[in-house]
Amino acid sequence: MSRNSLDMSIALKEETAGVTPSVNGKLNSTGQPETSSHHTMGHDFIHAVKEHVASISSQFSLSTDKLQSIQEEFIQAMRYGLAHTDGDLAMIPTFVTGHPTGQEVGSYLAIDLGGSNLRVCLIRLLGPEGGVDVKQQKSVIPDTLKSEAVSFLFDFVACSIETFLKENHLEAVNSDAPMPLGFTFSFPVNQTAINSGKLIMWNKGFTCPGAVDMDVAQLLQEALDSRHLNVKVAAIVNDTVGTLLASAYLKPNTLAGVIFGTGTNAAYYEKLSEISKWDGDPNVGDEMILNMEWGNFDKQKRVIPFTVFDHRLDRESQNPYTMSLEKMISGRYLGELVRYILLELVDYQHLFNGKSTRALNTQYQFRTSFMSRISADTSSSLDQAKEILEENLGIPSTTQFERECVREICNFVARRSARLSATILSGLCSKRSDLLEGEVTVGIDGSLFANHPSFTSIMKSTLVELMGETRANKIHLALARDGSGIGAALTAMIASH
Ligand code: BGC
Repeated sequence: MSRNSLDMSIALKEETAGVTPSVNGKLNSTGQPETSSHHTMGHDFIHAVKEHVASISSQFSLSTDKLQSIQEEFIQAMRYGLAHTDGDLAMIPTFVTGHPTGQEVGSYLAIDLGGSNLRVCLIRLLGPEGGVDVKQQKSVIPDTLKSEAVSFLFDFVACSIETFLKENHLEAVNSDAPMPLGFTFSFPVNQTAINSGKLIMWNKGFTCPGAVDMDVAQLLQEALDSRHLNVKVAAIVNDTVGTLLASAYLKPNTLAGVIFGTGTNAAYYEKLSEISKWDGDPNVGDEMILNMEWGNFDKQKRVIPFTVFDHRLDRESQNPYTMSLEKMISGRYLGELVRYILLELVDYQHLFNGKSTRALNTQYQFRTSFMSRISADTSSSLDQAKEILEENLGIPSTTQFERECVREICNFVARRSARLSATILSGLCSKRSDLLEGEVTVGIDGSLFANHPSFTSIMKSTLVELMGETRANKIHLALARDGSGIGAALTAMIASH
């Protein structure tokens, strides 16, 4: 039994209360659960459920050897992506070279579009003494806008900018020089310059027609112009690049910016001499930031062991057969994996009396934030799990044993995510092992990293497992909350000078 398997100390006492499950955990000849109305929630039943959960848990468990081989493949994929444009890892040159000095000053507009929210910010870079001052307005992106024609989405963005400018008495509308805007757009974009780039594909639930292969900076500029806003899109930035720059503004030894949020990705400084596919100016600088788009690693599913639940999720997703790794790691998908596992246990009549609910049957209704709440709950009766299962998901009542099972499932799904995350981060840092002579900072943002109670500690222990303590301790994982806006402002500054 793997060490992820169900904690055998689960209390038995509540298990008989009010539940009359009708299954003994065996399969009949057609592969369906064998049912019987004579079983009560006795020891056989408990044992069968524990075995079932433990067998799923073991599919989510990854040995050190396996992680080592994933890491090696990952480094190979990085190398391939540095030379080619058709690899799993896109390794996109961002046209951003050089490091922030921390001396930068000035006021810039920035927007952040790419997950559940749109943020419009006014960023004041105050230089070495003052740091950064951020004023921001956050709005939820209505779900309908994620699938309608892209012009509606960009008009929503332009409208939010207009409101922000008015509310903050920014005179951009009437002044002569347009206000430079740093546009954080957190999707794969093939950049053609610091202020232009074509969308490669949508993900994370967005499907708006009319955007793929289009220059997204230009689409936003058109939306701004049609509202007569005197704002100029000066730079287009992936959120990882923004996070990297924001972290580097405060900590010059920053090597990478990483997001573990709705999606996952990393950007890092690579030596220009290593980017053999770069066909631009060879003298732009010694290093350039690359947007890795690491969520697409192992697209062919050759390296990472995929469980049946991963296959089901992928098949039913908006973008099957792409972003395989993102679907095992990031916040949009972890809750969905838990949902698929719960449904299997329901179908075997091992949970909730064999009955699902409308919410549990609905895609993405088991949110990753539920997992964080369930895992963080230390109450003996697992109140958070009870509330989520009964109130959010409409299960009429749950036993302590069922809640323990759900918590165990949430834990092993999150654990695999954190271990895979550490593995690819270790691969990235090993690729720049020249920098591990000293210490490096990795600026990290995203709700999963910020809110999950054990994600960071599992990542850290996995880094030690893979790299050894001395090297792992040279990598500082630093929370860079909402950093991408600051990074976008820095890029707008670089671009507009
Ligand atoms: C996108 C990346 C982005 C990441 C984190 C992924 O789905 O492809 O461009 O950086 O999510 O937001």
